[in-house]
This record gives sequence, structure tokens and C-alpha cells, in this order.
Amino acid sequence: MITAICPGSFDPITLGHVDIIRRAADMFDHVIVAVLRNAKKNASFTIEERMEMIRKVVADMPDVNVEVDTFDGLLADYAKIKNATVLVKGLRAVTDFEYEFQMALANRRLNPDLETVFITTRAENMYLASSLVKEIARGGGSISDFVPAVVREEIQNRLCKGEIEK
Ligand code: PNS
Repeated sequence: MITAICPGSFDPITLGHVDIIRRAADMFDHVIVAVLRNAKKNASFTIEERMEMIRKVVADMPDVNVEVDTFDGLLADYAKIKNATVLVKGLRAVTDFEYEFQMALANRRLNPDLETVFITTRAENMYLASSLVKEIARGGGSISDFVPAVVREEIQNRLCKGEIEK
């Protein structure tokens, strides 16, 4: 059985992430969507909120084996703990490549049993990023094409309460 990890900040999950998770789940027996616990990063949503949104989204994928988890520290070490041998990364543009290539090489050095697999994004998601979605929402634009409905509602609630910085 091959376990693959889709790691990220997911602040919040976008339709670009959903597409990569879905495609990874079609390729591997077990997929762990792993949310990085990173106190340094100024996140809009707590870890629990991000995990809850991801759980609701993956509940729409009952035919595949997807787990939602969180991790701290090095991804290479977390993969060992979870017996995962594949890291799945979405590649949007050439600009992603250099950083992702560096990470893939470092992760392989840290954990030689771990293979990084890149999945190219769909053309319509090439420019999509969590930060961009929040910026569009702050500016009053529609984010329906960019995030699942559950995330859109959550962002709109936050904006109404002034909980996402303007
Ligand atoms: O969604 P993001 O913020 O682009 O995800 C980045 C993530 C979580 C994949 C990356 O920061 C990561 O793997 N962090 C864990 C620490 C680690 O292992 N760093 C890489 C050392 S080679």
C-alpha cells in the first residue's frame, strides 16, 4: 500500500489544492492531507479551522482514502512516522519549480525512502493561491471560482466580522 502526503499551509484550501488532492487520491492507496503547524506564519485561519474545512471538502470524495492531519517540524520526519513514501506537490508555474526542486532534493536527502511527485496544475488554476483568494475577497470580488463553497462561506463570515485583515 502506498501512502502519499499532500502537505501545505492550506490557509485556506483552494480549488487548486482540491484538484491536486483528488488526482493524488486516484493515484495512491492512501493520501494524507497534512497541514503545517507553523507558528511563525501569520495565518488567517487556525489549524483546527483549516483542518475542518479540508475535512468537509474531502467528505465529497467518499470513493477514495483521504485522511486529514497536521504536522510540525520536518516533513521528511513526519513521512517516516506515517510510513509515507510519496510527497505530492502541485506545480503551477515555472516560478514554483526552483523552490520545489530544492525542497524535493533536501527531503530526499533527509529521507531517502521519500519520493517527490509533481502534479501539474490545471490551466485554470495556474495563478491560484490562498493569498490571492483572500485579497480578492477583501476587495469585494467573487471567489466562487477559486474555493469550495464551504470555504467561501467561511471567508465571507470572517470578513463580515472583520476577522480577516482588510
Ligand atoms: O502551502 P505551502 O505553505 O507552500 O507549504 C509548504 C510546506 C508545508 C510544504 C513546506 O513549508 C514544508 O514542507 N514545511 C515543513 C518543514 C520542512 O520540512 N521544510 C523543508 C526542509 S527541506
